[in-house]
Amino acid sequence: MEVPLNLKNTENARRAAPNMKCLADFVVEKEIGEGSFSTVYHAREKEGEKREIALKICLKKLILKNKMVTYIHREKEALALLSREENAHPGVVTLFATFQDAESLYFVLSYAKYGDLVSLIQKQPDAKLKVDDARYYAANLLSALEHIHKLGIIHRDVKADNLLVKHDGRILLTDFGSSKFLKDYEKDTNSNESSVPSRRRSFVGTAFFVTPELLTGSDMSPASDLWSFSVTLYFFLTGNYPFDDLSEYLVFKRIQDVLYRFSDDFPDENARDFIEKVLVKEQKERLTSDQMKRHQFFESMDFENLQEIEPPRIY
Ligand code: ADE
Repeated sequence: MEVPLNLKNTENARRAAPNMKCLADFVVEKEIGEGSFSTVYHAREKEGEKREIALKICLKKLILKNKMVTYIHREKEALALLSREENAHPGVVTLFATFQDAESLYFVLSYAKYGDLVSLIQKQPDAKLKVDDARYYAANLLSALEHIHKLGIIHRDVKADNLLVKHDGRILLTDFGSSKFLKDYEKDTNSNESSVPSRRRSFVGTAFFVTPELLTGSDMSPASDLWSFSVTLYFFLTGNYPFDDLSEYLVFKRIQDVLYRFSDDFPDENARDFIEKVLVKEQKERLTSDQMKRHQFFESMDFENLQEIEPPRIY
């Protein structure tokens, strides 16, 4: 995709304040992703370290028209907290800066060369991962989720589409637009606000990862991310989704009834046992992240030293 002229010729770009970034600080190289409300470009800093970055550009008029203002605020707040030096985690995307002009909001993010994990998995010979590779990505995702939960953030949109693969094969959790600060939670459920973005998200996003509590309008908790984590693990290992059917409505019905099965060629008994202990309707009855780390499926994983493990080469 061609880079639009206004991103190439930045002589009109204005800096809102001397210490703020603006479009003129970057060379925009190529479009690398498109969402409903944003486009992501691969770009490079003009000065200093000349880092490669991902520039996410959100058009203000689309955001206002689609009532996505809360969504953008959440993303910025969560990423700003997670990007503070003392909160940094190697498995979470970093927000280096934000700025805006009359038309757009800009997020300067860490760049992941190999794009999202779903696209990479779909390009594998049998469109799924080997058990050891699935275990590696799952362990790293679990570590990132544990970290954000400790900081009081629930992601609420955990799926392989939101995992990006860096130049070195390591993954980053991204897209915090659906996230929630745990301290906000009671306030929001009382005002009934939480079910609004949830429903809307179910129409723009994919139904496969939706949790039973989202469908019934109950409170979501860190255990909700762990449900979606297990759906993601099932996808890694099979290339399929545990809850799949002809329509979104039928998928939701399956999720509400926790109606899914393992095919006869499901590749790993420990993974099966693990998934069965998380895909449980009651949040309190699901394995916690601590119990997950101690499960047989992760026996070979040293969670204290994940950075020392050589990542799979699936790209
Ligand atoms: N697509 C969306 N965000 C991205 C990022 N940070 N790096 C690479 N591709 C992306």
